[in-house]
Amino acid sequence: MAGCHACAALPPAKSNNTSSGTVRFTAEEFLTITSSAKDVQDLRCKLSPCEGIKRTVMSFLRCTRHLGIWRLRNRVQIETSAVLPQASSVCGFVRSKNTTANHARSEDYQFSTTQWRHMVIGVLAGTGAVLVYGIYRQQVQQAEPKSITELTSLTVSARDNEVKQTYPIFTRQDVTKHKTMAEGVWVTYKSGVYDITKFIDLHPGGKKIMLAAGGAIEPFWAMYAVHNQEHIYEMLEEYKIGELSPEDQKVATSDVSDPYGNEPLRHPVLKVNSLKPFNAEPPLEILSDNYLTPTEIFFKRNHLPVPEVDPKKFRLEIMGEGLKSIQLTLNDLKTKFTKHTVTATLQCAGNRRSEMNAVRQVKGLNWGMAAIGNARWTGVKLSDVLQYAGLPENTNAKHVQFEGLDKDVSGSPYGASISIRKALAKDGDVLLAYEMNGEDLSRDHGFPLRVVVPGVVGARNVKWLSKIIVSKEESKSHWQVNDYKGFSPSVDWDTVDFSTAPAIQELPIQSAITTPCNDDHIPADDGEVTVKGYAWSGGGQEVIRVDVSLDGGKTWQVAELTGEKQDEGQVWAWKLWQLTVPLPKGQKNVEIICKAVDNNYNVQPDTVAPIWNLRGVLNNSWSRVKVTIEPGSS
Ligand code: MTE
Repeated sequence: MAGCHACAALPPAKSNNTSSGTVRFTAEEFLTITSSAKDVQDLRCKLSPCEGIKRTVMSFLRCTRHLGIWRLRNRVQIETSAVLPQASSVCGFVRSKNTTANHARSEDYQFSTTQWRHMVIGVLAGTGAVLVYGIYRQQVQQAEPKSITELTSLTVSARDNEVKQTYPIFTRQDVTKHKTMAEGVWVTYKSGVYDITKFIDLHPGGKKIMLAAGGAIEPFWAMYAVHNQEHIYEMLEEYKIGELSPEDQKVATSDVSDPYGNEPLRHPVLKVNSLKPFNAEPPLEILSDNYLTPTEIFFKRNHLPVPEVDPKKFRLEIMGEGLKSIQLTLNDLKTKFTKHTVTATLQCAGNRRSEMNAVRQVKGLNWGMAAIGNARWTGVKLSDVLQYAGLPENTNAKHVQFEGLDKDVSGSPYGASISIRKALAKDGDVLLAYEMNGEDLSRDHGFPLRVVVPGVVGARNVKWLSKIIVSKEESKSHWQVNDYKGFSPSVDWDTVDFSTAPAIQELPIQSAITTPCNDDHIPADDGEVTVKGYAWSGGGQEVIRVDVSLDGGKTWQVAELTGEKQDEGQVWAWKLWQLTVPLPKGQKNVEIICKAVDNNYNVQPDTVAPIWNLRGVLNNSWSRVKVTIEPGSS
């Protein structure tokens, strides 16, 4: 969707062939070309020499419009010209916009006998249409609309003889059904419904436009700001086919009986792994479009309903070993402590679990390769807050526990802990963050406060933070003690003993291919393919290289890395990488592989099986993508 500057060069949605200055329209084409009041004015202006023709055409116009709407309503393919056999001939009088130069030529208005015959038929057809329309209007007015989808109308102003169209009404569900080229690709913008099927191949940003298919276009335009231009809006208008039902224009209201009834609105592009609790990741192909992952598409990993927190009433409790219990307001945090910003990647332990599932079934959400994101986090240092609470330098404590405001049915909150070493390390950069990517945290990402533990697995980055406990013990939370731990591939659910493994903290080296995607088809004529992806290592280690192979690992090429410079030992953010490689000749199926290396020369294992574990965590094997090379013309 990026780069829509080229949209300006697109052909208009309406086009017709001309032959010797006179255009013959089928009724369908006529309906299309007269889809805006401006066009109607154009036509009227060109027809003005003959009032009779004008009336005929206006009647016909109403008729065809009406039929067009009827067609949309009933989704029945009525061949309009079959209903009005002479329709195309009648339209033969209509001058095309392209024939302005010929407009003044008198022969354009000299009618042959056939043309007169056509005109008379036109008058009859037009009159018939007006009658049909009148009956239809009466029916519409009398009928109690059963469903909003059925409500369509056409407004004709008798005073100025102008046709003002009110569009068919569609529900969001109607729109959702149109996600494919076969079904037609529909999107909504504000209250309008648009059929953009014909635009898909013209979209300068390529097939990414399909991500918006069947839903609202605004969230995508918000992400790719290049669309925020007048001519883009105008162009979209040409594809308008309807209006959203008033119900669907309203924002969803909360349902108090459902613990998940008050969840925030989410970006439609997210691939939902579970709705309640909400867990979703962005499509891979857009993940590496931005160094900082836009908050809306940043993966969301919730174990419980998202709590609604009043920031004015919010209090953070700090207690435990050797410190006095205190409470801090959000304002205290923002005013009493130095503000810090850290760019850090957050990865779920289950990222790439689906690849483990392919080896042997594991328990857990079937995450793809996008349960990872990179953001700019702003807040205060945990070490500053603990110091403020009076934590002695020579503390006996070993852990810092965190509790969230999200609670399960028994009232237990989500919880986790990190080592006190990490919490207090000067270069540990553990934040109590209230901003993400320059804005207040969103509800899904922990509003109003969360812990950000750079270099450490997502599970310890507790959201909706309400309590900090400094302790000799680690958190007793289920997610600390009985989850998010790694085991040997031979351990199964009958033999597993969670107490034998430490809780995952710093994550191992990771990289993945984001484009092309599995099963993509690449035309051989392209001659080359650009491979893109992300690479990251836990514990502040820096990715120093990403290798790419197209021959199963026999030969490798080094990709180009991009990313912000961060201090040694504090490289918390990922690197994005890309490499353009020639397509192997004479090969149809190609596997593209990537693997990364960090500054401690940690590397990724080549396959999944040896690191398989029953919870499907810590998959950092070589990333593999299978593509098909389409035979070229040469
Ligand atoms: N904190 C709370 N309170 N509740 C949760 O469910 N999920 C954890 C962590 N913090 C979770 C939480 C897990 S498993 C991950 S991977 C990260 O949040 C995900 O953070 P995100 O949703 O902001 O991407």
